[in-house]
Amino acid sequence: MPAPVTAVSAPYFRPAARAWRCAPPADVAAFHATLPGYAPTPLVELPRLAAELGVGRLFVKDESARLGLPAFKMLGASWGVERALRDEKRLVAATDGNHGRAVAAVARLRGLAATIFVPADIHPASIAAIRAEGAEVVTVDGIYDLAVERAAKEAAEPGSLLVQDTAWPGYEEIPRWIVEGYATLFTEVDAQLAAAGAAPAGLVGVPVGVGSLAQAAVAHYRGRAAGPDAPSLLSVEPESAACALASLHAGERVTLEPGRTIMHGLNCATLSTLAWPYLRDGLDAAVAIGDADTVRAARDLAALGVPAGPCGAAALAGARAVLGGDGNRVLLSPRHAGTVVLLSTESATANPSLG
Ligand SMILES: Cc1ncc(COP(=O)(O)O)c(C=O)c1O
Repeated sequence: MPAPVTAVSAPYFRPAARAWRCAPPADVAAFHATLPGYAPTPLVELPRLAAELGVGRLFVKDESARLGLPAFKMLGASWGVERALRDEKRLVAATDGNHGRAVAAVARLRGLAATIFVPADIHPASIAAIRAEGAEVVTVDGIYDLAVERAAKEAAEPGSLLVQDTAWPGYEEIPRWIVEGYATLFTEVDAQLAAAGAAPAGLVGVPVGVGSLAQAAVAHYRGRAAGPDAPSLLSVEPESAACALASLHAGERVTLEPGRTIMHGLNCATLSTLAWPYLRDGLDAAVAIGDADTVRAARDLAALGVPAGPCGAAALAGARAVLGGDGNRVLLSPRHAGTVVLLSTESATANPSLG
Protein backbone atom coordinates (compact mmCIF):
# COMPACT_ATOMS: atom_id res chain seq x y z
CA MET A 1 0.00 0.00 0.00
CA PRO A 2 1.39 3.49 -0.89
CA ALA A 3 2.35 5.99 1.87
CA PRO A 4 -0.60 8.06 3.23
CA VAL A 5 -1.10 11.53 1.72
CA THR A 6 -2.59 14.66 3.26
CA ALA A 7 -6.32 15.17 2.73
CA VAL A 8 -7.55 17.83 0.28
CA SER A 9 -10.83 19.70 0.57
CA ALA A 10 -11.25 21.61 -2.74
CA PRO A 11 -14.25 20.32 -4.68
CA TYR A 12 -13.61 18.41 -7.90
CA PHE A 13 -15.40 18.72 -11.25
CA ARG A 14 -14.80 16.94 -14.57
CA PRO A 15 -17.70 17.43 -17.00
CA ALA A 16 -16.07 15.07 -19.55
CA ALA A 17 -16.97 12.14 -17.27
CA ARG A 18 -20.55 12.39 -18.47
CA ALA A 19 -19.45 11.22 -21.93
CA TRP A 20 -17.58 8.16 -20.58
CA ARG A 21 -19.17 4.73 -21.10
CA CYS A 22 -18.74 1.40 -19.36
CA ALA A 23 -20.39 -2.02 -19.65
CA PRO A 24 -23.94 -2.10 -18.26
CA PRO A 25 -24.31 -3.80 -14.84
CA ALA A 26 -25.80 -7.28 -14.35
CA ASP A 27 -29.59 -7.42 -13.92
CA VAL A 28 -29.96 -8.45 -10.27
CA ALA A 29 -33.41 -7.05 -9.46
CA ALA A 30 -35.12 -10.38 -10.22
CA PHE A 31 -32.86 -12.14 -7.65
CA HIS A 32 -33.60 -9.58 -4.92
CA ALA A 33 -37.33 -9.91 -5.61
CA THR A 34 -37.08 -13.58 -4.50
CA LEU A 35 -35.71 -12.69 -1.04
CA PRO A 36 -38.12 -12.85 1.90
CA GLY A 37 -39.36 -9.35 2.77
CA TYR A 38 -38.14 -7.67 -0.45
CA ALA A 39 -39.89 -4.44 -1.40
CA PRO A 40 -38.51 -1.35 -3.15
CA THR A 41 -37.46 1.26 -0.59
CA PRO A 42 -39.30 4.61 -0.76
CA LEU A 43 -38.25 7.44 -3.06
CA VAL A 44 -39.54 10.45 -1.14
CA GLU A 45 -40.18 13.78 -2.89
CA LEU A 46 -39.12 16.82 -0.83
CA PRO A 47 -40.31 20.03 -2.54
CA ARG A 48 -38.99 22.24 0.27
CA LEU A 49 -35.40 21.09 -0.35
CA ALA A 50 -35.90 21.45 -4.12
CA ALA A 51 -36.85 25.09 -3.57
CA GLU A 52 -33.88 25.63 -1.23
CA LEU A 53 -31.41 24.23 -3.80
CA GLY A 54 -33.04 25.93 -6.79
CA VAL A 55 -33.84 22.70 -8.64
CA GLY A 56 -37.06 21.45 -10.25
CA ARG A 57 -37.78 18.31 -8.24
CA LEU A 58 -35.78 16.60 -5.51
CA PHE A 59 -36.10 13.02 -4.32
CA VAL A 60 -34.41 11.13 -1.48
CA LYS A 61 -33.95 7.38 -1.83
CA ASP A 62 -34.63 6.26 1.73
CA GLU A 63 -32.60 3.13 2.62
CA SER A 64 -33.51 3.23 6.32
CA ALA A 65 -35.29 -0.15 6.04
CA ARG A 66 -33.94 -2.54 3.38
CA LEU A 67 -34.65 -6.29 3.63
CA GLY A 68 -35.05 -6.02 7.41
CA LEU A 69 -31.86 -3.99 8.11
CA PRO A 70 -31.34 -0.23 8.51
CA ALA A 71 -28.97 0.34 5.52
CA PHE A 72 -28.71 -0.50 1.81
CA LYS A 73 -25.98 -3.13 2.33
CA MET A 74 -28.18 -6.26 2.10
CA LEU A 75 -28.39 -5.64 -1.65
CA GLY A 76 -24.69 -6.33 -2.08
CA ALA A 77 -24.14 -8.92 0.66
CA SER A 78 -27.04 -11.11 -0.48
CA TRP A 79 -26.01 -11.14 -4.15
CA GLY A 80 -22.29 -11.49 -3.37
CA VAL A 81 -22.92 -14.52 -1.14
CA GLU A 82 -25.41 -16.01 -3.61
CA ARG A 83 -22.74 -15.94 -6.31
CA ALA A 84 -19.86 -17.05 -4.10
CA LEU A 85 -21.23 -19.80 -1.91
CA ARG A 86 -19.99 -23.32 -2.57
CA ASP A 87 -19.04 -25.60 0.38
CA GLU A 88 -18.04 -22.90 2.82
CA LYS A 89 -19.23 -23.16 6.42
CA ARG A 90 -18.34 -19.71 7.71
CA LEU A 91 -18.52 -16.18 6.29
CA VAL A 92 -15.84 -13.64 7.29
CA ALA A 93 -15.96 -9.87 6.74
CA ALA A 94 -14.69 -6.54 8.07
CA THR A 95 -17.06 -3.65 8.63
CA ASP A 96 -17.53 -0.20 10.03
CA GLY A 97 -21.11 -1.21 10.77
CA ASN A 98 -23.55 -1.91 8.00
CA HIS A 99 -21.81 -4.35 5.63
CA GLY A 100 -20.80 -6.72 8.44
CA ARG A 101 -24.31 -6.70 9.81
CA ALA A 102 -25.63 -7.55 6.34
CA VAL A 103 -23.13 -10.43 5.97
CA ALA A 104 -24.12 -11.70 9.44
CA ALA A 105 -27.79 -11.55 8.44
CA VAL A 106 -27.15 -13.47 5.20
CA ALA A 107 -25.20 -16.11 7.18
CA ARG A 108 -28.12 -16.47 9.58
CA LEU A 109 -30.58 -16.84 6.68
CA ARG A 110 -28.39 -19.58 5.18
CA GLY A 111 -27.54 -21.36 8.45
CA LEU A 112 -23.83 -20.45 8.28
CA ALA A 113 -21.51 -19.12 10.98
CA ALA A 114 -20.05 -15.62 10.61
CA THR A 115 -17.01 -13.83 12.03
CA ILE A 116 -17.03 -10.05 11.65
CA PHE A 117 -13.97 -7.82 12.30
CA VAL A 118 -14.65 -4.23 13.41
CA PRO A 119 -12.40 -1.18 14.00
CA ALA A 120 -11.81 0.14 17.51
CA ASP A 121 -13.99 3.27 17.15
CA ILE A 122 -17.17 1.47 16.04
CA HIS A 123 -20.31 2.37 18.01
CA PRO A 124 -21.14 -0.29 20.67
CA ALA A 125 -24.72 -0.41 19.33
CA SER A 126 -23.35 -1.56 15.95
CA ILE A 127 -21.45 -4.43 17.64
CA ALA A 128 -24.60 -5.42 19.52
CA ALA A 129 -26.61 -5.41 16.27
CA ILE A 130 -24.09 -7.69 14.52
CA ARG A 131 -24.04 -10.08 17.51
CA ALA A 132 -27.85 -10.10 17.48
CA GLU A 133 -27.63 -11.63 13.98
CA GLY A 134 -25.71 -14.53 15.59
CA ALA A 135 -22.20 -13.56 14.42
CA GLU A 136 -18.94 -13.58 16.35
CA VAL A 137 -17.50 -10.02 16.52
CA VAL A 138 -13.73 -9.39 16.78
CA THR A 139 -12.56 -5.82 17.55
CA VAL A 140 -9.17 -4.86 16.10
CA ASP A 141 -6.97 -2.20 17.62
CA GLY A 142 -7.02 0.22 14.67
CA ILE A 143 -9.03 1.65 11.77
CA TYR A 144 -11.35 -0.02 9.23
CA ASP A 145 -8.48 -0.73 6.83
CA LEU A 146 -6.75 -2.84 9.53
CA ALA A 147 -10.00 -4.72 10.19
CA VAL A 148 -10.08 -5.59 6.48
CA GLU A 149 -6.50 -6.93 6.67
CA ARG A 150 -7.37 -9.08 9.72
CA ALA A 151 -10.51 -10.46 8.06
CA ALA A 152 -8.56 -11.39 4.93
CA LYS A 153 -5.99 -13.31 7.05
CA GLU A 154 -8.70 -15.07 9.05
CA ALA A 155 -10.54 -16.14 5.91
CA ALA A 156 -7.45 -18.01 4.69
CA GLU A 157 -8.53 -20.83 7.06
CA PRO A 158 -10.23 -23.78 5.34
CA GLY A 159 -14.03 -23.61 5.23
CA SER A 160 -14.07 -19.80 5.49
CA LEU A 161 -15.22 -17.38 2.81
CA LEU A 162 -14.26 -13.69 2.84
CA VAL A 163 -17.23 -11.55 1.79
CA GLN A 164 -15.71 -8.07 1.58
CA ASP A 165 -17.25 -5.00 -0.05
CA THR A 166 -13.90 -3.58 -1.13
CA ALA A 167 -11.37 -4.98 -3.61
CA TRP A 168 -7.58 -5.16 -3.75
CA PRO A 169 -5.19 -6.85 -6.16
CA GLY A 170 -5.99 -10.57 -6.06
CA TYR A 171 -9.37 -10.13 -4.31
CA GLU A 172 -11.85 -8.76 -6.83
CA GLU A 173 -14.45 -11.39 -7.71
CA ILE A 174 -16.74 -11.15 -4.65
CA PRO A 175 -16.53 -7.32 -4.41
CA ARG A 176 -17.57 -7.24 -8.10
CA TRP A 177 -20.67 -9.29 -7.27
CA ILE A 178 -21.44 -7.11 -4.23
CA VAL A 179 -21.33 -4.02 -6.45
CA GLU A 180 -23.60 -5.81 -8.95
CA GLY A 181 -26.01 -6.35 -6.06
CA TYR A 182 -26.24 -2.61 -5.40
CA ALA A 183 -27.67 -2.12 -8.91
CA THR A 184 -31.19 -2.89 -7.71
CA LEU A 185 -31.23 0.41 -5.79
CA PHE A 186 -30.71 2.37 -9.04
CA THR A 187 -33.15 0.21 -11.03
CA GLU A 188 -35.76 1.06 -8.39
CA VAL A 189 -34.97 4.80 -8.61
CA ASP A 190 -35.49 4.83 -12.40
CA ALA A 191 -38.88 3.15 -12.09
CA GLN A 192 -39.91 5.34 -9.14
CA LEU A 193 -38.99 8.59 -10.93
CA ALA A 194 -40.97 7.49 -13.99
CA ALA A 195 -43.94 6.61 -11.76
CA ALA A 196 -43.69 10.07 -10.14
CA GLY A 197 -43.78 11.70 -13.58
CA ALA A 198 -40.31 13.18 -12.96
CA ALA A 199 -37.53 13.62 -15.52
CA PRO A 200 -34.70 11.04 -15.25
CA ALA A 201 -32.10 11.88 -12.60
CA GLY A 202 -29.94 14.88 -13.53
CA LEU A 203 -27.83 14.90 -10.36
CA VAL A 204 -27.26 11.87 -8.09
CA GLY A 205 -25.58 12.36 -4.69
CA VAL A 206 -23.77 9.24 -3.39
CA PRO A 207 -22.09 8.86 0.03
CA VAL A 208 -18.64 7.29 -0.53
CA GLY A 209 -16.53 5.11 1.74
CA VAL A 210 -14.43 2.65 -0.32
CA GLY A 211 -16.39 3.68 -3.45
CA SER A 212 -18.28 0.45 -4.19
CA LEU A 213 -21.73 2.07 -4.09
CA ALA A 214 -20.45 4.93 -6.27
CA GLN A 215 -19.01 2.30 -8.65
CA ALA A 216 -22.50 0.82 -8.93
CA ALA A 217 -23.89 4.32 -9.60
CA VAL A 218 -21.34 4.90 -12.37
CA ALA A 219 -22.02 1.45 -13.88
CA HIS A 220 -25.74 2.21 -13.89
CA TYR A 221 -25.70 5.76 -15.22
CA ARG A 222 -22.67 5.52 -17.51
CA GLY A 223 -23.47 2.00 -18.71
CA ARG A 224 -26.23 3.30 -20.91
CA ALA A 225 -26.79 6.77 -22.37
CA ALA A 226 -23.64 8.90 -22.32
CA GLY A 227 -22.76 12.45 -23.32
CA PRO A 228 -22.89 15.97 -21.97
CA ASP A 229 -26.59 15.49 -21.21
CA ALA A 230 -25.92 12.47 -18.96
CA PRO A 231 -26.56 12.96 -15.23
CA SER A 232 -23.96 14.39 -12.89
CA LEU A 233 -22.71 11.87 -10.35
CA LEU A 234 -21.56 13.49 -7.10
CA SER A 235 -19.41 11.68 -4.56
CA VAL A 236 -19.75 12.91 -0.96
CA GLU A 237 -17.21 12.04 1.76
CA PRO A 238 -16.23 13.16 5.25
CA GLU A 239 -13.47 15.81 5.27
CA SER A 240 -11.44 13.48 7.49
CA ALA A 241 -11.64 10.50 5.09
CA ALA A 242 -12.03 11.97 1.60
CA CYS A 243 -9.97 9.34 -0.20
CA ALA A 244 -12.01 9.59 -3.43
CA LEU A 245 -11.62 13.37 -3.52
CA ALA A 246 -7.88 13.13 -2.84
CA SER A 247 -7.47 10.38 -5.45
CA LEU A 248 -9.42 12.33 -8.09
CA HIS A 249 -7.29 15.41 -7.51
CA ALA A 250 -4.09 13.33 -7.55
CA GLY A 251 -5.12 11.30 -10.62
CA GLU A 252 -4.20 8.09 -8.79
CA ARG A 253 -5.54 6.00 -5.91
CA VAL A 254 -4.05 7.43 -2.70
CA THR A 255 -4.26 6.32 0.93
CA LEU A 256 -5.04 8.93 3.61
CA GLU A 257 -3.93 9.14 7.22
CA PRO A 258 -6.64 7.67 9.50
CA GLY A 259 -9.16 10.29 10.68
CA ARG A 260 -12.23 10.48 12.91
CA THR A 261 -15.82 11.16 11.88
CA ILE A 262 -19.32 10.24 13.00
CA MET A 263 -19.93 9.03 9.42
CA HIS A 264 -18.56 5.58 10.34
CA GLY A 265 -19.56 3.84 7.10
CA LEU A 266 -17.61 6.45 5.13
CA ASN A 267 -14.49 6.42 7.33
CA CYS A 268 -12.26 4.62 4.82
CA ALA A 269 -8.68 5.64 3.99
CA THR A 270 -8.36 3.80 0.65
CA LEU A 271 -10.66 3.22 -2.33
CA SER A 272 -11.45 -0.24 -3.65
CA THR A 273 -9.17 -1.10 -6.59
CA LEU A 274 -12.26 -2.08 -8.60
CA ALA A 275 -14.06 1.16 -7.82
CA TRP A 276 -11.18 3.51 -8.61
CA PRO A 277 -11.26 3.33 -12.46
CA TYR A 278 -15.03 3.83 -12.41
CA LEU A 279 -14.77 6.83 -10.07
CA ARG A 280 -11.81 8.31 -11.99
CA ASP A 281 -13.56 8.06 -15.36
CA GLY A 282 -17.23 8.30 -14.46
CA LEU A 283 -17.67 10.76 -11.57
CA ASP A 284 -18.05 14.36 -12.64
CA ALA A 285 -18.16 15.93 -9.16
CA ALA A 286 -16.82 15.18 -5.68
CA VAL A 287 -16.93 17.05 -2.39
CA ALA A 288 -15.96 16.59 1.25
CA ILE A 289 -18.21 17.70 4.10
CA GLY A 290 -17.82 18.04 7.86
CA ASP A 291 -19.62 16.20 10.66
CA ALA A 292 -21.58 19.38 11.50
CA ASP A 293 -22.86 19.55 7.89
CA THR A 294 -24.25 16.02 8.02
CA VAL A 295 -25.73 16.54 11.49
CA ARG A 296 -27.65 19.52 10.09
CA ALA A 297 -28.70 17.56 6.99
CA ALA A 298 -29.88 14.62 9.14
CA ARG A 299 -31.90 16.98 11.32
CA ASP A 300 -33.51 18.59 8.25
CA LEU A 301 -34.29 15.21 6.66
CA ALA A 302 -35.76 13.90 9.93
CA ALA A 303 -38.05 16.95 10.06
CA LEU A 304 -39.22 16.04 6.55
CA GLY A 305 -39.89 12.42 7.48
CA VAL A 306 -36.66 10.73 6.26
CA PRO A 307 -34.84 9.06 9.20
CA ALA A 308 -31.31 9.44 7.77
CA GLY A 309 -28.18 8.41 9.67
CA PRO A 310 -24.94 10.41 9.40
CA CYS A 311 -23.80 8.59 6.21
CA GLY A 312 -27.21 8.81 4.58
CA ALA A 313 -27.61 12.52 5.28
CA ALA A 314 -24.15 13.20 3.81
CA ALA A 315 -25.70 13.17 0.32
CA LEU A 316 -27.85 16.21 1.15
CA ALA A 317 -24.92 18.00 2.80
CA GLY A 318 -22.83 17.36 -0.32
CA ALA A 319 -25.57 18.60 -2.66
CA ARG A 320 -25.85 21.75 -0.57
CA ALA A 321 -22.10 22.29 -0.82
CA VAL A 322 -22.01 21.85 -4.59
CA LEU A 323 -25.23 23.62 -5.56
CA GLY A 324 -24.52 26.51 -3.19
CA GLY A 325 -20.92 27.05 -4.36
CA ASP A 326 -20.12 29.96 -6.69
CA GLY A 327 -19.88 28.88 -10.32
CA ASN A 328 -20.18 25.15 -9.60
CA ARG A 329 -23.45 24.69 -11.47
CA VAL A 330 -21.97 25.44 -14.90
CA LEU A 331 -19.70 22.41 -14.41
CA LEU A 332 -22.63 20.08 -13.76
CA SER A 333 -24.92 18.34 -16.23
CA PRO A 334 -27.25 20.77 -18.00
CA ARG A 335 -29.98 18.53 -16.56
CA HIS A 336 -28.71 18.68 -12.94
CA ALA A 337 -31.43 21.06 -11.78
CA GLY A 338 -34.26 19.02 -13.28
CA THR A 339 -34.33 16.03 -10.95
CA VAL A 340 -31.95 15.54 -8.02
CA VAL A 341 -31.67 12.14 -6.31
CA LEU A 342 -29.89 11.88 -2.96
CA LEU A 343 -29.05 8.41 -1.64
CA SER A 344 -29.86 8.28 2.05
CA THR A 345 -28.04 5.01 2.61
CA GLU A 346 -28.77 4.25 6.27
CA SER A 347 -31.24 4.94 9.02
CA ALA A 348 -30.45 6.96 12.12
CA THR A 349 -30.75 3.73 14.09
CA ALA A 350 -27.97 2.03 12.05
CA ASN A 351 -25.45 4.50 13.49
CA PRO A 352 -26.67 6.23 16.64
CA SER A 353 -23.79 8.80 16.63
CA LEU A 354 -26.27 11.60 15.91
CA GLY A 355 -27.26 11.31 19.55
C1 LIG B 1 -24.54 3.77 5.32
C2 LIG B 1 -23.47 3.72 4.32
N1 LIG B 1 -23.51 4.60 3.30
C3 LIG B 1 -22.56 4.60 2.34
C4 LIG B 1 -21.50 3.72 2.39
C5 LIG B 1 -20.44 3.84 1.34
O1 LIG B 1 -20.33 2.74 0.53
P1 LIG B 1 -18.90 2.37 -0.10
O2 LIG B 1 -18.01 1.97 1.04
O3 LIG B 1 -19.23 1.30 -1.06
O4 LIG B 1 -18.40 3.63 -0.75
C6 LIG B 1 -21.43 2.78 3.44
C7 LIG B 1 -20.33 1.80 3.50
O5 LIG B 1 -20.12 1.13 4.47
C8 LIG B 1 -22.44 2.79 4.43
O6 LIG B 1 -22.41 1.93 5.46
